[in-house]
Amino acid sequence: MSGSSELFERARRVIPGGVNSPVRAFGSVEGNPVFMEKGVGSAVYDVDGVKYVDFCCSWGPLILGHADPDVVEAVKRTAENGLSFGICNPLEVEMAELLEQRVPHADMFRMVNSGTEAVMTALRLARGYTERSMILKFDGCYHGHSDALLVNAGSGLLTQSVSSSAGVSANVASEVVSVPYNDIESVDEAFAKYKDRVAAVIVEPVAGNMGLVRPKKGFLEALRELSAENGALLVFDEVITGFRFHAGTFAELIGVLPDITVLGKIIGGGMPIGAIGASKEIMSHLAPTGGVYQAGTLSGNPVALAAGIATLRKLVETNPYPKLERMAARLAENINRLAAEKRLPSRCEAFGGAFTIFFTSNRPLENLADVAKCDTDAFASFHRRMLDAGFYLSPSQFELDFISTAHTEEDVNAFGEAVADFAADL
Ligand SMILES: Cc1ncc(COP(=O)(O)O)c(C=O)c1O
Repeated sequence: MSGSSELFERARRVIPGGVNSPVRAFGSVEGNPVFMEKGVGSAVYDVDGVKYVDFCCSWGPLILGHADPDVVEAVKRTAENGLSFGICNPLEVEMAELLEQRVPHADMFRMVNSGTEAVMTALRLARGYTERSMILKFDGCYHGHSDALLVNAGSGLLTQSVSSSAGVSANVASEVVSVPYNDIESVDEAFAKYKDRVAAVIVEPVAGNMGLVRPKKGFLEALRELSAENGALLVFDEVITGFRFHAGTFAELIGVLPDITVLGKIIGGGMPIGAIGASKEIMSHLAPTGGVYQAGTLSGNPVALAAGIATLRKLVETNPYPKLERMAARLAENINRLAAEKRLPSRCEAFGGAFTIFFTSNRPLENLADVAKCDTDAFASFHRRMLDAGFYLSPSQFELDFISTAHTEEDVNAFGEAVADFAADL
């Protein structure tokens, strides 16, 4: 019995499903989770010492790869002086100033401990600021697990939403409308139907949580216009996209600026983090200057901030983005060549250093209904084969994988060969 199997048996006795976050349970792929002991550069090592090239990268934060020496050094140095104060510390100011420089459309930032917490705060802030209650979101976008965001579209477009989780009250779900991604007509109709009631429109500006789905040309621009016209705040959830495609937000890259920006993942360099940024006018509504309450024992934690600041400074100094993009494009090309030769029933979508291998020939992939047509059984056996070949992909068809600065050309080429072997056996 492998060390991972033994641990999973023990874990299932004392942790629900044996995991502390559901997708880790391998429910939608074959086999049981692997338990990791060590990460170095582009690789993780399981408890039996087996090495995997890691394309999951902790679901996004590890843009510098595992245990980047500069990040680890910053963490060590900071930890030696205390793990938490619950009192103001200088790194909070340094991080907020750094974010202000890199995210110029926001003047002020509040640090929290996760993306979920940041989104929850952003929506409360939008509701407090607009004195409205409804939230407009998009099917297939994920914004963490707070009650209001665990809802799906109702049976008909523009009916109010239904909760996608037990334990979320119908009242909460009734204040959220979820419409198809990339469908501006539905947004328009929702604004018409819920006139003067929508506090915020929240969107992943590049969707990652249904696999990689890009915004159609003009979609985000139209969202910007419609939100402003209807007095709602536009919230970009950049938990994945922030510092992913350049040393700043996706918003700055395309010049469509939201009212509130939500950050997480990369800005913590692998430590728990989240942040909300907006204009001084909006942010002043947060306690203690305003009436929207928000707090946190570990918010602005020095060790998390040390990891985040070291990561962001390194990204600014080294600008690894063109290289990440080239490597992801190469990886996608390898797979799409096999697809064009009809040896593989899939297609790889890549953007910057992020990619998803979709097991469908359906095109275009513009929303959840499109990607839902993927052959998840085919993905599951592909995932198993890649794992056996020493490559750790995110264990779901509807997720992103990432290239980090620690990945090498050899990693990408070896992965291409493993995929070709898989295709040859189909
Ligand atoms: C776009 C987006 N927003 C919010 C979250 C929630 O972040 P966290 O898992 O840190 O709570 C995630 C997590 O994957 C995410 O992808």
